[in-house]
Amino acid sequence: MVAPRVLLVGLITGLTVTKPAAAERGTLDVRASDPCAAIANQTWAAPADVRACFSSFPVNGTIKENYAYRVFVHLQIIEVVNKTLAFHTSVSYEKRAPEPFTADVHEDVLADLARIRGQTYANEFDLHVDLSRTLKRLNDGHCVYINQCFDSLFLTFLPTPLVLLTDATGKQSVHIAPAAFTVATAEFKDEVSFWQNALPGALKGQLASLAGARVLAINGQDPFVAVNANAQVAGSFQGLGTRQNGFFSSYNTGATGWTYIMGNFAQQSLPLVDSVTLTIQRVNSSTTDTITLPYRSRIASTAIPWTDAQSFHENNCVAIPGTNGEDLYAAPERRRGLPTNPANKFRQAPVPEVTSASKREPLDVMLDTAPLQDVVLPPGLTPQNPLVGSTGVAQFFMLKDKKTGVLALGSFSAGSLDTLNTALLTGLQNLKKQGATKLIVDVSNNGGGFICTAHWLHRIIAGPKATTEPNAGLDTEARAGPLAQLIVKQIIAGADPDVLLLYNPLNFWRFANNTPFPADFNWLDPPVSVVVNGIHDAFSQRLGDECEPYSTNPPPEALFDTKKVAIVTMAKEEGAKTVVYGGKSDVQQQYCGTVGGQSTDFSEIDTEVKTTHLKNNTLAPPDFLTNSVQGITWRLGFGIQDPSQPEEWQNHPADVNLPLTASTYATDIFFHTCPLT
Ligand SMILES: *[C@@H]1O[C@H](CO)[C@@H](O)[C@H](O)[C@H]1NC(C)=O
Ligand SMILES: *[C@@H]1O[C@H](CO)[C@@H](O)[C@H](O)[C@H]1NC(C)=O
Ligand SMILES: *[C@@H]1O[C@H](CO)[C@@H](O)[C@H](O)[C@H]1NC(C)=O
Ligand SMILES: *[C@@H]1O[C@H](CO)[C@@H](O)[C@H](O)[C@H]1NC(C)=O
Ligand SMILES: *[C@@H]1O[C@H](CO)[C@@H](O)[C@H](O)[C@H]1NC(C)=O
Repeated sequence: MVAPRVLLVGLITGLTVTKPAAAERGTLDVRASDPCAAIANQTWAAPADVRACFSSFPVNGTIKENYAYRVFVHLQIIEVVNKTLAFHTSVSYEKRAPEPFTADVHEDVLADLARIRGQTYANEFDLHVDLSRTLKRLNDGHCVYINQCFDSLFLTFLPTPLVLLTDATGKQSVHIAPAAFTVATAEFKDEVSFWQNALPGALKGQLASLAGARVLAINGQDPFVAVNANAQVAGSFQGLGTRQNGFFSSYNTGATGWTYIMGNFAQQSLPLVDSVTLTIQRVNSSTTDTITLPYRSRIASTAIPWTDAQSFHENNCVAIPGTNGEDLYAAPERRRGLPTNPANKFRQAPVPEVTSASKREPLDVMLDTAPLQDVVLPPGLTPQNPLVGSTGVAQFFMLKDKKTGVLALGSFSAGSLDTLNTALLTGLQNLKKQGATKLIVDVSNNGGGFICTAHWLHRIIAGPKATTEPNAGLDTEARAGPLAQLIVKQIIAGADPDVLLLYNPLNFWRFANNTPFPADFNWLDPPVSVVVNGIHDAFSQRLGDECEPYSTNPPPEALFDTKKVAIVTMAKEEGAKTVVYGGKSDVQQQYCGTVGGQSTDFSEIDTEVKTTHLKNNTLAPPDFLTNSVQGITWRLGFGIQDPSQPEEWQNHPADVNLPLTASTYATDIFFHTCPLT
């Protein structure tokens, strides 16, 4: 698709010489007339200034061709998103999820897309916010729409992340995180003075004294008004409790060390809010203070520098290599040098950069509008003395009782499947050797990863039994829309001799009894008709395990008695305990945020479409012209308690909601979400 890009450059050039528009506004100031020039080469900016740049691309421009182009882009985005949703398993389910999630997930995304298509927007940014939030209302951690022109091009911060703490009487209240000042000074070295100077009166320069303060009001209202408002737009998780918890700060074992998670109050992917007014009671103070803190937007290291609106748009807002898929047989030598997938940046687990069209490990990874951050967890909060064998996302500890081992697992990926699986086995065997009879698996903020690592971990802990052999995971189904059916048909007819495509029957997939599909097996024919929320939908037949045999033999015996294990992946089947920490005490906590089954994104689907020569089919999504990413759930896991229905919207009540106190905050290790089962 070279032509549209040429068109784009031509028309954007048209846009930036829109002198009449500037004149109409009566502005002569060059900076004001080009709000993107005003924030060029700045590390930090006021959110309002970033918003002014983002909002300077009118959908309905005054130049005729420009107007036509904008409308074209608008419609094209909607068309790609709409047609890609035909591959997302959950569209019909998410129109109205069953209990206990009916109140949480009730988004008719196709109707909303029709609304957005018909609506006019003052500028591209307004369109983006509406579209992004519409998909977020699915509360599906895989099905997300991102435009790198806007999402996290700047991250917008406050130096005061919040936590929900419980006092000695059991009363919960919102606090500025005790570690806030330490984190802010380390992470925002170059900007802390701005906030110091923004503090009023005697508090000027006293940011450190805010750490640990009780927050009595946010913008004059009970703090949970703000918590719940965020839960309405945060997306990612079905359960209200999990979305509330995302407002607060937390931590994760990242590939390069322990990471502090700021939470949605203190870190936002769009520059929509300028400031917040907090009524606080500082530690040891009997009086309250009301302060207004400005948010500040920091440029992402991945943003391509610009000098004005034109170069801002050209550099950051148009499709890049990898945005769209490729015909893998068009130029076989290209297969070894494919662009990295832009979706990877937004995946919530470190995934290997696959740049050749070799067989990929199936992944189930959360996608969000903000990339994983590397804010360092202050040393005082970092668990000490990891045992030998700890590596990256997998850290092992022994608690003081010398009987309880801890595996902190920040994601189910990083490195390769084999190295991670081996590290897990060795680390757990080592814990056992040192006397551990109980095990805590901390998967806090685990964003998912290799499906087969989750299966492997379940199998090695629980040993061989009916729940782990031959399938330690869930049976799954894929959606069988008309275009997906055509893709499989083309593959059976010979379109993918090297077995590179997701839909190839030889690419992992098996019958429900775990025997592999034959090469010529059309596994979407006939589709299984299902009526969901009154909608006739179609899915594949039930798929069995794709992980066994593992490349290394698992031990013949269980490593731990699962009754003495607190681990999410086995909670339902194995009687292990599920623990969530720091949740609001009167809200049922879910130990599992998003289940999924297997996730993918538009570019991968587009590769399937192009490789099977179906791009000019009317059902095929066109290419994105914008710097966009769309994630989807490609396979959906069936339930454990009700195997006839998806696990996704079945109840996952946590056994324990462990309160965080001022002294245990971020030092105890427990887990709270499970993207994988
Ligand atoms: C879009 O632009 C055209 C031409 O300038 C104008 O007639 C029309 O009213 C505009 N529509 C909106 C919604 O601003
Ligand atoms: C989405 O695609 C379907 C099927 O092609 C079509 O009927 C519908 O009108 C499309 N919706 C939008 C908003 O384009
Ligand atoms: C609060 O008072 C206690 C008891 O006097 C003291 O130990 C603590 O350091 C004080 N904390 C702060 C932040 O001033
Ligand atoms: C931004 O920085 C680049 C490289 O240092 C420089 O070429 C450019 O002129 C700068 N632009 C502005 C607006 O300062
Ligand atoms: C798709 O395009 C190809 C070549 O561009 C053409 O040969 C083919 O007939 C087209 N198929 C359909 C269904 O339009």
